[in-house]
Amino acid sequence: MSGFRATGAKVAKDAKGRGKGSGPRPRPEVLTVRAYAPPLEGRRGLLRLDFNENTVGCSPAVLRALRRLGGEAVATYPEYGRLREVLARRLGVGEDEVLPTGGIDEALHVLAQAFVERGDGVVTPAPGFVMYRVYSELAGAELRTVRWGPGAAFPEAGLRRAMRGARLLFVATPNNPTGSVAPRAALGRLARAHPRCLVAIDEAYFEFHGVTALPLLRRHGNVVVLRTFSKAYGLAALRLGCVVARPPVIDALARVRSPYSVNGLAAILAEAALADRGFLRRTVGEARRAVAFLRRELGRRGIRSWPSAANFVLARFGRAGELAEFLRAKGILVRDQSGHPGLEGCVRVGAGTVEQTRRFLGELDAWLACAGFDQRRRRHVQGISRKERKGPPRTPRGWAGAGEVKR
Ligand SMILES: Cc1ncc(COP(=O)(O)O)c(C=O)c1O
Repeated sequence: MSGFRATGAKVAKDAKGRGKGSGPRPRPEVLTVRAYAPPLEGRRGLLRLDFNENTVGCSPAVLRALRRLGGEAVATYPEYGRLREVLARRLGVGEDEVLPTGGIDEALHVLAQAFVERGDGVVTPAPGFVMYRVYSELAGAELRTVRWGPGAAFPEAGLRRAMRGARLLFVATPNNPTGSVAPRAALGRLARAHPRCLVAIDEAYFEFHGVTALPLLRRHGNVVVLRTFSKAYGLAALRLGCVVARPPVIDALARVRSPYSVNGLAAILAEAALADRGFLRRTVGEARRAVAFLRRELGRRGIRSWPSAANFVLARFGRAGELAEFLRAKGILVRDQSGHPGLEGCVRVGAGTVEQTRRFLGELDAWLACAGFDQRRRRHVQGISRKERKGPPRTPRGWAGAGEVKR
């Protein structure tokens, strides 16, 4: 199979769940899935440049609304009518075309549960978001990964081939961890070429990019768009996101999602978050300035980074694990991506505010100085060849391997 790799979940030896021991046994997929345990403990009070959250917090209007909530709001099962109404209005779709979910994570889970049977193909570009792999494996799918092209170009042709007979395509735009984007026209062509395959477009970082695939919903019944309040809106702890799709798809997902999975407080507070457009504008403006500043400053230090349409930057620092440890000791969190094929030596750095970026750069300089490298030796240690120094990768080697990223 050229162009993509099939990495289907290994099936446990005891496929029927019998054998060793006499206790209850989970499904084989549950036993064999490569579980994902994000390093989420002990992060409060540190500079969180590691999970692409809002590093400033959330809108003060949300906090005010939270303080106003009384016991009844907490004691009552959630109501979603008003939430669907405000989401539909904001997104310009019908109320029967929106399903609130516990973040995009839950949306990915119910998509795989509702549309993928054991052995079905699920396609995704790599490197990409780790949970696509986790939920595909749990559904017993055959995961087919297609590498992003040279210079992080969207691999439309490879995806089109890989989608033959597949049930689901997951694409994040902007993508995590590269920050690269998938052109809407290409997504539309993929949806048209494979009408039986669901095209799930993950817009977790939409607010920073400003381009959406929502118009494709009118033309293609197999397009699904995913949004979250975890990033630009700064509501990651509330766990709120939504699926936007045609009513038959929404109906199928609603059957799988548990009836009260979105907590009632999130459902109420979302309205305050959506209403504070000023907060969103300031967040996005600051993140864009921080991304540009960070890339410029990294370049001045001879460190290669990739163009990003999101609120983070992926860059090749060389000894990535060592840098992440050094920064943690200084109270700054970043994500080492070097465990993934093609991302050796890479770290993803959240671009919160310009001020926070300055603090990161100060500690980066301390690390570089501490290591005692002059510019030429530093490049050598980073493993960046003379040819590569000029900028983002121009050959597929830049994304070699079917990597995946953790959040
Ligand atoms: C591309 C992408 N999709 C989805 C998510 C998860 O978002 P949520 O908090 O809404 O579950 C993330 C979080 O890092 C992400 O990077």
